[in-house]
Amino acid sequence: MEFSVVREDGRARFGILKGTHGVTETPCFMPVGTLGAVKGVTWEDIKRMGYHLVLSNVYHLYLRPGLEIIKEAGGIHKFTGWNELILTDSGGFQVFSLGKLMKLTEEGVFFKSHIDGSEHFFTPEFVVKFEEEIGVDIGMVLDECTPYPATYEYAEHSMERTVRWAERSINSRTTDKTALFGIVQGGVYDDLRLRCVEKLVKLPFDGYAIGGLSVGEPKEEMYRITKLVAPQLPKDKPRYLMGVGTPLDILEAVESGVDMFDCVMPTRNARNGTLFTSYGKVNIKKAKYKNDFTPLDPECDCYTCKNFTKAYLRHLYVTGNVNSVILNTIHNLHFYEKLMEKIRDSIKEEKFSEFKVDFLRKFKGDKS
Ligand code: GUN
Ligand code: ZN
Repeated sequence: MEFSVVREDGRARFGILKGTHGVTETPCFMPVGTLGAVKGVTWEDIKRMGYHLVLSNVYHLYLRPGLEIIKEAGGIHKFTGWNELILTDSGGFQVFSLGKLMKLTEEGVFFKSHIDGSEHFFTPEFVVKFEEEIGVDIGMVLDECTPYPATYEYAEHSMERTVRWAERSINSRTTDKTALFGIVQGGVYDDLRLRCVEKLVKLPFDGYAIGGLSVGEPKEEMYRITKLVAPQLPKDKPRYLMGVGTPLDILEAVESGVDMFDCVMPTRNARNGTLFTSYGKVNIKKAKYKNDFTPLDPECDCYTCKNFTKAYLRHLYVTGNVNSVILNTIHNLHFYEKLMEKIRDSIKEEKFSEFKVDFLRKFKGDKS
């Protein structure tokens, strides 16, 4: 993998990330396709929107369809039909949200499948092997996503273990076709975060993620930790804020120097009728849209906004039509990619701060 920062505007960076199967500009947002598909849209839709990098997940792919099927298909790109960049999260987040169905040891993590209760064991080495064998462009290491709230002692032990697992992950690599990213943990404790960064940057990762955020902590904590950690990470490597976030969260993090994002928000919200527009969020199920024959977002040039009215989108939603999911997802993902494109353009023109203020002034005039 190659990464270069092309322009800087304050701490915000415009860069280019080149992986085995393609290229993306950064800052970028990755649509979430946990099971090897982004719900409600085709790869053609995703490409038309301008995405070149999507996210999937080791935990989910391991359970279904499983390593053997993906290998038999010729790898994750051949299996899914997506031929550009893929990043897989390690499962370090999914497994830890299983609660009682999970048991942590120094060696790895035991868990019970959320599908059939069957028992499995992940080690840091196994996760790297899985990511390399299915042939993803970027793999994330197995980490422990420290919950919130956590005591200092808990967060410290958990961070130290994440660092030991990171070392084991790096040592078990067998190819550079799959880039490997480390994950910074440490809860909301500044000194633990900094200690974690100090240890991880000594290891030759291709990029670094900030994990353990957006797990229930107040927004100010998330912004504070991001602002603290991002500038400490190597300047010449991509920085990825995991599981974040709203347009505001993304703008704040870009301002702190973050390059990559993923979040279920645009796709999940699309499915429950919450749509992002340049004037704020719209809840399409509201009765006031019954006879609103204007487009969802007059400034949006997506297929949904160019061809349909709010009244029709509401009708599809309230009648439970599968087309509601499709049209809403096309719009929300288009909106997110346009946001990222405007962010990149504004950094290139050294006008990021102005863009952020202008965007938020309009977006916060919430219409929902
Ligand atoms: N997704 C959101 N947060 C996290 C995290 O802390 N670790 C991992 N592996 N994935 C995440
Ligand atoms: Zn639209």
